[in-house]
Amino acid sequence: MDKIKQDLMKEVADLIKQGGVVAFTGAGISVESGIPPFRGAKGLWSKYNPEEYAYIETFLRNPEKVWIMLREMYRCFSEAKPNLAHLVLAEFETKGYLEAVITQNIDSLHQKAGSKKVIELHGSGDRLVCLDCEKEYPFIEEYLKLTPYPKCKRCNKPLKPAIVFFGEPLPEKALSQAFELVKSCKVLIVIGTSGVVYPAAYLPYEAKRSGAKIIEINPEESAYTNSITDYFFKEKAGEFFKNLSFFYN
Ligand code: OAD
Repeated sequence: MDKIKQDLMKEVADLIKQGGVVAFTGAGISVESGIPPFRGAKGLWSKYNPEEYAYIETFLRNPEKVWIMLREMYRCFSEAKPNLAHLVLAEFETKGYLEAVITQNIDSLHQKAGSKKVIELHGSGDRLVCLDCEKEYPFIEEYLKLTPYPKCKRCNKPLKPAIVFFGEPLPEKALSQAFELVKSCKVLIVIGTSGVVYPAAYLPYEAKRSGAKIIEINPEESAYTNSITDYFFKEKAGEFFKNLSFFYN
């Protein structure tokens, strides 16, 4: 690490230690856990066109087709473990620096890493829901073996993961909690999101407007990098947190 980078890391470490930190995460934070992101060459949307697979109307019309993608997604999740970035965020919470993680991810890796306050903006794959009677079922691997798709025991209708499909509203409570958090935080750490899916993508802008410093970690530039980011670390999340650890010991 050169001197400029060292000084920058130290500045960021000191900022974090002052507390009032919130993290906003996207698919990129889970890439090093083996879960592909949505966009880019190896992204889920390059294999499954979101127009065909990710809209709620498609699920309602053809659940069998959408469950082909969902099975693959769940297999990826079941093999994935939290990585250093998830673990350090959980540690920051324990130390009292971090107030919450706001995530667009549905893989539960923040919770598996030990984070307690996790706001899930796009729902979670940890349960399935019947769109007819709204009964919920905790997700278990057995569901992946059911063909053509798992069904509600009560009304025999297809079950859908409790994740937000395009065309569905975001969970209201999670969204309002997220806006409250970014309005009052001192520092927002934005990790691994392209910042193109709204309304979640508004959050960093709202944080900036309310006076927060924006720290961003992403190997590529995002929608935020040249507009609101104060400290940009153009690297993988794992790399960033490994470097940052030198300033905590
Ligand atoms: P994207 O796939 O759009 O973006 C992932 C970002 O992570 C990109 O900017 C990558 O450059 C970055 N990235 C890749 N590897 C990384 C690493 N090792 N460390 C840090 N960053 C890395 O994913 P999201 O922004 O999360 O919504 O996508 C937002 C929403 O779009 C998702 O929640 C999903 C999707 O459609 C719904 O399904 C409703």
